[in-house]
Amino acid sequence: MSDQNHDVLVQVKGLTKHYPIQQDFISRLLSAEEAKKVRAVDGVEFDIRRGEVFGLAGESGSGKTTVGRLVLRLTDPTEGDIIFDGVNIARLSNEDMRQMRARMQIIFQDPFASLNPRMRIGDGIGHGVKIHSDATATERRTVVETMMEYVGLTPAKLYYEKYPHQLSGGQRQRAVIARALVTRPELVVADEPIAMADVSVRALLLELMIRLKEDFNLTYLFITHDLATAKYICDRIGIMYLGKLVEVGDLRDVYTHPSHPYTDALLEAVPVPDPESRHEKPLPKGEIPNPIDPPSGCRFHPRCPLAVDVCSEIEPELRPVEGSTGHLAACHLTTGDYRHLAPK
Ligand SMILES: Nc1ncnc2c1ncn2[C@@H]1O[C@H](COP(=O)(O)OP(=O)(O)O)[C@@H](O)[C@H]1O
Ligand SMILES: [Mg+2]
Repeated sequence: MSDQNHDVLVQVKGLTKHYPIQQDFISRLLSAEEAKKVRAVDGVEFDIRRGEVFGLAGESGSGKTTVGRLVLRLTDPTEGDIIFDGVNIARLSNEDMRQMRARMQIIFQDPFASLNPRMRIGDGIGHGVKIHSDATATERRTVVETMMEYVGLTPAKLYYEKYPHQLSGGQRQRAVIARALVTRPELVVADEPIAMADVSVRALLLELMIRLKEDFNLTYLFITHDLATAKYICDRIGIMYLGKLVEVGDLRDVYTHPSHPYTDALLEAVPVPDPESRHEKPLPKGEIPNPIDPPSGCRFHPRCPLAVDVCSEIEPELRPVEGSTGHLAACHLTTGDYRHLAPK
């Protein structure tokens, strides 16, 4: 158990989520193969340390949102363990899970989808307090207004009465952040929290999230498809591709010594603010393959500029990158047994 290791808040082991595909009766009768499924998450392992921002990055469809929902058990894993503060929540009863839920929250990317359009902003923010505590209406109102001031929805008395459509996008996202934090969770899963905000307010929202993390001793699982955003906020990062974690480590190690060709390609594709310097390169050719039928061996091999025969034959495991601690990559050519095959 993670009890010996007090700085770990969440430990994820062999985490797997397969979604069955709806097939009509006739196709099921005619199909000799076993039922097909979407391999959204396939054996993912990582730790989130108390007080850190752990990032998950990767292109759309790589399984980031599914991992975030599994960590909070908003969806049940097909296989694997999620150990939250020493308790395996993958196997918790609904009743015990309800109590655990007060310690974790999620911030979605779309504030419109997460705020009830017919509820006043203040009531929306206080909804979780109503469910998770026995505070009186007056106490609740005080707690909510204090949190609203904190996230910059000021004057709180005025904004309390407003409805979601009367707020700007940035203000709505502040309301969503306030709603997540007002119950004082320990872990916050933030799923692309600034992706839908105006470019002009993104940095402000990130600064707010960093300030809140420090002041409330929070731990973040921060999901983003954007490595520039991740660089700004994350302490450590995991890179996902087609349901697999292909690289994980301290942000600085991963960014300065990317050890999987996919991480390398993602970093090369980050836009550079200075127009004089090199232009971003497009990601390697080809779409992300279908997670119903992932490529054999290394799932990245059809798009990998370095791929050799073994890459399509044997699946690489996460292995330590030489000369660093806690930096792992899953690539035959950088960390595996076939390093001698890597192009010089
Ligand atoms: N409820 C679901 N039913 C079936 N397939 C799903 C479901 N949710 C996600 N998927 C599939 O799982 C894969 C991973 O999705 P997701 O976790 O949303 O990735 P990301 O957040 O990285 O874009 C995608 O192929 C997606 O279509
Ligand atoms: Mg997503």
